[in-house]
Amino acid sequence: MSLKEFIKNSPKTELHLHIEGTLEPELMFSLAKRNKIEIPFKNVDDVKKAYNFSNLDSFLKIYYEGAKVLIKEQDFFDLTWAYILKCKEDNIVHTEIFFDPQTHTDRGIDFDTVINGIFNAFKKAEKEFGLSFKIIMCFLRHLNEDECFKILDKALAHKDKIFGVGLDSSETGNPPKKFEKLFKKALENEFITVAHAGEEGPPEYIWEALNCLNVHRIDHGVQCLKDEKLVEILSKSQIPLTVCPLSNVKLKVFNNLGEHNLKKMLDKKLMVMVNSDDPAYFGGYLNKNLIEIQAALNLSQEEIKTLIVNSFKSSFLNEEKKKEWISKI
Ligand code: HPA
Ligand code: ZN
Repeated sequence: MSLKEFIKNSPKTELHLHIEGTLEPELMFSLAKRNKIEIPFKNVDDVKKAYNFSNLDSFLKIYYEGAKVLIKEQDFFDLTWAYILKCKEDNIVHTEIFFDPQTHTDRGIDFDTVINGIFNAFKKAEKEFGLSFKIIMCFLRHLNEDECFKILDKALAHKDKIFGVGLDSSETGNPPKKFEKLFKKALENEFITVAHAGEEGPPEYIWEALNCLNVHRIDHGVQCLKDEKLVEILSKSQIPLTVCPLSNVKLKVFNNLGEHNLKKMLDKKLMVMVNSDDPAYFGGYLNKNLIEIQAALNLSQEEIKTLIVNSFKSSFLNEEKKKEWISKI
């Protein structure tokens, strides 16, 4: 079996995916039409041309613009269903996705509209395809903590649907410490915590996510290699780092995949795996991320297997389920 086939055929899990980042241009246009929303693009090609980012913030601007076509519960359902079909295509058997409620509530969309649309799509997929899932609500870190507290209060009414909380959006200048009280309250309410840290931001942000927010996983975390002591702690504790190769190149964290530090992270025995982040914007879903990073870094079958096994190990599946899936790789 070729490595490409091995990647495609293995059952996989995905741990770093923004559901709003799966909005393909075609669906963006059809929702814009359905909801009579003006978008600043003439056609699909025009949209794709705009996906030339210079850093995280230049991407976020377009990502928040695109999300404006999502209005009704059915829109959130359709968005999620389209991603679920990609999971089937890529043989993803378990997924832990992020959603950004503030991107929608700030436009006057009800919190319930957002979560119900997403959750109902996953419940249908669970029933029809046996896809398992967890939903993680991200706070937008460029906003202030008070606004985030209001969203946390809304989430409490949906505790049965939302498994954990995370932190995303513009990293530089918005350190994890800014949200220490918020995450304390989330933990008191038994949400698990994760946070984006060390994507563009310095290793200090990873330290803060660990020490101030009590996170189970670091999203991205690729900047950790700049700090030896941090690498030692991450390696010892096996705190997962949800790496997203195509995202990192699109947002110029690395110049190209060949310069990506994933192999170095594997060599340092860090708990890393591959994810797609915002696949509609970054050029590929999970299999494409794995196939392209394998080729660029000449990763062995053993290394690919480690990445896929790590993803199951790092998931919030129970131990029995983890073992069951890992035995099938
Ligand atoms: N980083 C930070 N915020 C985000 C991202 C990301 O990669 N994708 C969507 N929101
Ligand atoms: Zn992300």
